[in-house]
Amino acid sequence: MAALGLASSLPLLLLLVIAGAGGARWRGEGTTRHLQSIILGRCAEHVALLNPEQGEKNCTAIWEAFKVVLDKDPCSVFPSDYDLFISLSRHSIPTDKSLFWENNHLLVTSYAENARRFVPLCSVLYGRMGDFLSWCRQENASELDYQSCPTSEDCENNPVDSFWKRASMQYSRDSSGVIYVMLNGSEPTGAYPVKGFFADFEIPYFQKDKITRIEIWVMHEIGRPKVESCGEGSVKILEERLKQMGFQYSCINDHLPVKLLKCVDHSTHPDCALKSAAASIQREVPPLWSEYGGSLITPFLVALASAIQM
Ligand SMILES: *[C@@H]1O[C@H](CO)[C@@H](O)[C@H](O)[C@H]1NC(C)=O
Ligand SMILES: *[C@@H]1O[C@H](CO)[C@@H](O)[C@H](O)[C@H]1NC(C)=O
Ligand SMILES: *[C@@H]1O[C@H](CO)[C@@H](O)[C@H](O)[C@H]1NC(C)=O
Repeated sequence: MAALGLASSLPLLLLLVIAGAGGARWRGEGTTRHLQSIILGRCAEHVALLNPEQGEKNCTAIWEAFKVVLDKDPCSVFPSDYDLFISLSRHSIPTDKSLFWENNHLLVTSYAENARRFVPLCSVLYGRMGDFLSWCRQENASELDYQSCPTSEDCENNPVDSFWKRASMQYSRDSSGVIYVMLNGSEPTGAYPVKGFFADFEIPYFQKDKITRIEIWVMHEIGRPKVESCGEGSVKILEERLKQMGFQYSCINDHLPVKLLKCVDHSTHPDCALKSAAASIQREVPPLWSEYGGSLITPFLVALASAIQM
């Protein structure tokens, strides 16, 4: 079986090697295939299903505003090039629902539950449209570059980074109430990147009069070393910065609801161990829960929350 698997993957490997030898111009992923369909589809879905109360949005006009950057040199796209795109797609963010993050993309995506639980940038219409995608024009031609696109190491003013800078600024300006921040305490380079989207394009744009307090969650990978926790290293730098800015803030290590979600993938690890009462607690969960979003995972998490040994 193993030999067969290797043999059948050899042509693919060769193909990858040959493609690599062609020498991609830039370090980043090339333009995502079917970019226009994906963006238009995400826009239509968001407008139709998730946010009917957010007012009329014209997805065709939004796409047309976006694609202006696809005609520009891939190292000369600025955050302001997305101004029209943002103004056509922006909508309000519910109070107390903003979730900022660094180094936790997939966890934030699943915890947010498509804006049902929290509304991180990737659940806001303009952020959703760009999530996990890449795009750029070729350097000296008018077609899209499907081989590679510049990252910040190639050039600062690249289409993708400028998009997230502009989107981050808007998201931050539109956030209100309690601000939540999810950091990764297992990240070797530090939980709070002192140069990063959060530090440089979100914190500076907080509207202080609209924010009641800031709550930081430092999450650690189950069964991996805790590199940083609240009050330590780069987290301390963040806490001091927020204090200096006059924000009321708190910091929580391994915020329980998020830890429970991580434990779904590590259910046999001792850090996720259940007390023996788990089964009886599960029976006490009222049937009402099934009406809350219809998610099967909810009663499970409720039981887990009551039973887990923290
Ligand atoms: C949506 O925008 C497109 C492109 O700007 C325009 O042609 C169309 O008339 C607009 N549709 C509506 C319903 O406003
Ligand atoms: C947290 O950081 C570690 C180390 O870089 C990484 O392996 C892990 O995938 C990150 N966790 C999440 C949820 O992204
Ligand atoms: C694009 O043109 C410039 C200037 O002529 C040149 O230096 C560069 O190598 C060209 N890039 C590609 C990918 O052909």
